Amino acid sequence: MSEIKTLTASELAENPVIAQMANLGHEQILFCNDEATGLKAIIAVHNTVLGPALGGTRMWSYANEMEALNDVLRLSRGMTYKNSISGLNLGGGKAVIIGDSRTQKSEALFRRFGKFVNSLAGKYITAEDVGINPMDMNWVSMETKHVVGLPGKSGDPSPVTAYGVYMGMKASAKIQFGSDSLAGKKIAVQGAGHVGEYLIEHLTKENADVYVTDIHVDTLKRVSEKYKATVVSPDDIYDVDMDIYAPCALGATINDETLERLKCSVIAGAANNQLKLESKHGFDVMKKGIVYAPDFAINAGGVINCFSEVQGLSADWSHKKAEEIYDTIHNIVKRSQDENVPTYQIANKIAEERIAAIGRVKLPM
Ligand SMILES: NC(=O)c1ccc[n+]([C@@H]2O[C@H](COP(=O)([O-])OP(=O)(O)OC[C@H]3O[C@@H](n4cnc5c(N)ncnc54)[C@H](O)[C@@H]3O)[C@@H](O)[C@H]2O)c1
Repeated sequence: MSEIKTLTASELAENPVIAQMANLGHEQILFCNDEATGLKAIIAVHNTVLGPALGGTRMWSYANEMEALNDVLRLSRGMTYKNSISGLNLGGGKAVIIGDSRTQKSEALFRRFGKFVNSLAGKYITAEDVGINPMDMNWVSMETKHVVGLPGKSGDPSPVTAYGVYMGMKASAKIQFGSDSLAGKKIAVQGAGHVGEYLIEHLTKENADVYVTDIHVDTLKRVSEKYKATVVSPDDIYDVDMDIYAPCALGATINDETLERLKCSVIAGAANNQLKLESKHGFDVMKKGIVYAPDFAINAGGVINCFSEVQGLSADWSHKKAEEIYDTIHNIVKRSQDENVPTYQIANKIAEERIAAIGRVKLPM
């Protein structure tokens, strides 16, 4: 399941959907169209061996349908790996709504979307993602019970995500520096948003030397003053003389250009899809002697929080589960060094092995 083939233009032209599903190993895709509400959405169920496919809904102004399809296929596959490596009884899925989240939202659109989610009878559980807020999910919940992240329930997942990232960062430091103390370590946090701010809170409590950047001047000013962090401009963050780089904004920030500039020994952050080209840049970080904590393993706190809502578990359970990210990352990095294989490959392997093993358990006796 782990290696993704690059499909040729003729393969894609002949069979644009099924060929991609087969390449990435998807189970099912639901295309949703509703003239009356203007809803255009795609729900991708990647793998349900471990349990119902859980993953958020993203609302985005995609340039075209192919871009939306590519995004939902890639994101839903990522959820399968994240849920598996975190030891959750959840499969991987994701949904995208094609549209502008600032101008095209309505109660009717989200309730119609909820009807489509409900038609999958629990095979897919939805939640918030980019462009979606808890009130939108409230509308979805009027038509389906297969939704989490509702107001008044498990709440904002960001604190749990940040705590998991903090744990994974300490585990990476333990291997790279011989101690998991972050006191005095120079840590550059890219993005002072929901996760970034909570992460900075943990880091400053431990007396780390925090550098922070954000494209929003107000956010940057408020967070840097609150935690006495050193302000860096977005363009200069890669050149900071740092021990640890914590990407908490965008994906694909580990690439040919930034690897020339990054002086860190550890990369540990919340952003999804940090490696621009997984197979190339995953090897490149290893060759540079950088310990890279794989994104889907270190940022699983958010989905752990969602799982607690599905199962009716407490906030305390989520916190303890996120703490296990320390051991998960430590194990991945240790195995990577012992076997001389990039950390992303080890993480993929662990996730796939669990799915294969539990798949066998589920066979009829
Ligand atoms: N929120 C969660 O629980 C969670 C869970 C898993 C993964 N993630 C991922 O973690 C990342 C951060 O999530 P979040 O919820 O904090 O998002 P957010 O939108 O609250 O924060 C992101 C911050 O990054 C800033 N930013 C954007 N582009 C930037 C750039 N080029 N340079 C510097 N700063 C930039 C934004 O201004 C914003 O303040 C995202 O990639 C998200 O997908 C979040």
